[in-house]
Amino acid sequence: MRLHWTDSLTGAVGYLVVHTMRAGLATGGTRMRAGCTLGEVEDLARGMANKTATFDLPVGGAKGGIDFDPKDPRAVEVLERFCEAMRPWLDSHWVTAEDLGVPQHLIDEVFEKLGLGQSYHAAISRAADPAATLERVRAGLNAAVEGGFLLGDVIGGYGVAHACLAAAVWWGQAPAEATVAIQGVGTMGGAAAYYLHEAGMKVTTVADAAGTLYCPDGLDVPALLDLRDSYGEVDRTRLPADVQQLPRAAILSSDVDILVPAAISYAITPDNSFDVRARIVVEAANAATTPEAEAMLAARGIPVIPDFVANAGAVAWAWWLLLGEVDDIPENSFDRLRTIMHSKVEQLLAAWAEAGVTPRDTGHLWADDPSPVAGPVAIP
Ligand SMILES: NC(=O)c1ccc[n+]([C@@H]2O[C@H](COP(=O)([O-])OP(=O)(O)OC[C@H]3O[C@@H](n4cnc5c(N)ncnc54)[C@H](O)[C@@H]3O)[C@@H](O)[C@H]2O)c1
Repeated sequence: MRLHWTDSLTGAVGYLVVHTMRAGLATGGTRMRAGCTLGEVEDLARGMANKTATFDLPVGGAKGGIDFDPKDPRAVEVLERFCEAMRPWLDSHWVTAEDLGVPQHLIDEVFEKLGLGQSYHAAISRAADPAATLERVRAGLNAAVEGGFLLGDVIGGYGVAHACLAAAVWWGQAPAEATVAIQGVGTMGGAAAYYLHEAGMKVTTVADAAGTLYCPDGLDVPALLDLRDSYGEVDRTRLPADVQQLPRAAILSSDVDILVPAAISYAITPDNSFDVRARIVVEAANAATTPEAEAMLAARGIPVIPDFVANAGAVAWAWWLLLGEVDDIPENSFDRLRTIMHSKVEQLLAAWAEAGVTPRDTGHLWADDPSPVAGPVAIP
C-alpha cells in the first residue's frame, strides 16, 4: 500500500509504504531527506519486511519517508504534519521509529505532542495496560549505557558492530588486527564505530556528510563522537592533529578489511563498486548497495552482509522490548543480540564460502520462511 502526502504549507512530499501486515501490524522508521523518493521508501519497506521475517518478529514491514531537508528550520513542523496526516495508521497499525534525518527523541516528541505517547503507539495501545507498557518501553529506550549513551540509540549499531566482529572471528582474525571504515557517524554508524573501537578493532576511517576523516593508526572514536552535532556531523575545527581530512567519496576506497556503509541508501553503485577494496561490506544503512553493484562485488569475491541481517538489531530489539522479552538492563539486550548476530553471520559466511551463495540469497531463504503468527500479538 502506498500513501502520498503533500504538505500544504511547504509543498514537501511524504510517503508511507506498507509492504506486509502481520496480525494487523507493520513496522518501519520514518526518514527525512531532501530527494527522498517513493521508490526508495518502497525498497525500505520491503527491507523492513525481510528484517521482521528474518528475526521472526510478529509484525510486517513498512516505511515512511519525507522529501525535505532535516536541517530546514521548518523540519519538525513538517514531521508533525506528516504524522498528523498518517494518524489513522499510526494509531492502529504502523509502529514507526527513528531513521535517517529523524532521531528517536524527535519523533517521540512529535508523538507526545499529538497525544499518541510514543512512536510505538500502535503496538502499545494494544496492551492491557497501555500506560504501564509505555513506561516499561520508555525505561528500556532510555536505559543508560557506557559512553553516556541511551540503550535505544545504540542497540542497532551494537548489532552492526557484532556483525563485523563475527566476520573477523569467522576469518580467524583477532579484532585488534582488523581495520574498518564507516560511512556515516549518526545513530547507526556512530554506535557501530563506538563498539568496534571498544572491542579493539582499528577504526581508521569514518565519513559524515561533510567529508572523510582518516587516521592510519586508528581514530580515537569516543573523542570524535563527542565532536558531533545533532545531525551526526563532526566539528572540523576541533579535530585532533593526527586526523587527516579527505573528500567524502574517499571512504568507499578505504584500504580496510571491513567497509560499513551507515548513511545513505544506494551508496555503492556500479559506478563506484570497483573503488571498494575491503574484504567484506557490512550494511548498516538500508539498501546501501544496489543489486548490480552487489553482483559486481560478489564477482570480485567480496561478500555483502545485507541490511536486513546486519542492521536488524534495531527493529528486533524494539520488538523484544515491546513483547517484554528484554528489559531495561542493557546487558540482557546486548547478550541476546550478540549471540543471534554472530550465529546468523557465521551461517551466511559459511554458505558463501562453501557453496558460493551470497549472504543476501541465504538471508532471503530465512526471510521467505517466517514462523506463522497465530492470532493477535500479546503485548504485555
Ligand atoms: N536509526 C536506526 O534505528 C536505524 C536502524 C536501521 C537502519 N538504519 C539505517 O542506517 C542509516 C543511517 O541512519 P541513522 O539513523 O544513523 O541516520 P543519522 O541521521 O543519525 O546519521 C546519518 C549519518 O550519515 C552522514 N551522512 C549523510 N549523508 C552522507 C553522505 N552522502 N556521505 C557520508 N555520510 C553521510 C551524516 O553526516 C550522519 O553522520 C540509514 O540508511 C537508515 O535507514 C537506521
